[in-house]
Amino acid sequence: MRGIILLGAPGSGKGTQAKKLTVSFSIPQISTGDMLREAVKSGTEMGRQAKTFMDQGGLVPDEVVIGIVKDRLQEKDCEKGFILDGFPRTIPQAEALDRVLKELGKEISSVLSLEVDEEEILERLSGRRTCSGCGAMYHVRFNPPKTEGRCDKCGGTLLQRDDDREDTIRERLVNYKKSTKPLIDFYRGTGKVHAVKASGDIDTIFETISQLLH
Ligand code: AP5
Ligand code: MG
Ligand code: ZN
Repeated sequence: MRGIILLGAPGSGKGTQAKKLTVSFSIPQISTGDMLREAVKSGTEMGRQAKTFMDQGGLVPDEVVIGIVKDRLQEKDCEKGFILDGFPRTIPQAEALDRVLKELGKEISSVLSLEVDEEEILERLSGRRTCSGCGAMYHVRFNPPKTEGRCDKCGGTLLQRDDDREDTIRERLVNYKKSTKPLIDFYRGTGKVHAVKASGDIDTIFETISQLLH
């Protein structure tokens, strides 16, 4: 059982590294951000409400995301483990996660704190592009697709996220510092936290992470 939490500021590479871990460990990526964006796209009532928080760079209410994650962890593909990307993000979410995992007989094995400078974050997020077909992630400079605007894997159109505008990115960073960074201390006592220098080559960072997890 491998329960991995990826902690880190917006743009620290949680999604990029989670996708690689999914392949090497055969366990699913649980990204609350991706699930909320799916709900927005399908136009559910929950999605409609979540969108107002997301577009402002704020956090969606705890009870909404806790509910989503609790349901998701009970799916069959989480039997061997899971990678939490972007959850928990507040102390109440972390406390709820502890309760849910206990109920389900699961546990967290590692918490990786991805660390990147703020200037680099702004550069990463303003250049990020995501495939509308398969969700693959690119960066116009750091990880460009072979053909501009097209996904290498499925040929889908590459889009910019609605919340990757400079003022929204700044607000997301403020909320990260206020609500999410304290989780590093919350988990430190468990002895499961590893700080990872998350700037530089994507594959080199992945190597570091893989070694920490073995
Ligand atoms: P979410 O989707 O989780 O966004 P985030 O935390 O702001 O993080 P990002 O997805 O922007 O960044 P990332 O760390 O995944 O980096 P990535 O790999 O893409 O959440 C969005 C919103 O949903 C929140 O603001 C909130 O409103 C709501 N929400 C979600 N979860 C919630 C929760 N639990 N509670 C309440 N609300 C919640 O990389 C970024 C870019 O950099 C990419 O272009 C990538 O190609 C590039 N890159 C990656 N690694 C490198 C590298 N080493 N060098 C150069 N470029 C790199
Ligand atoms: Mg992400
Ligand atoms: Zn694609």
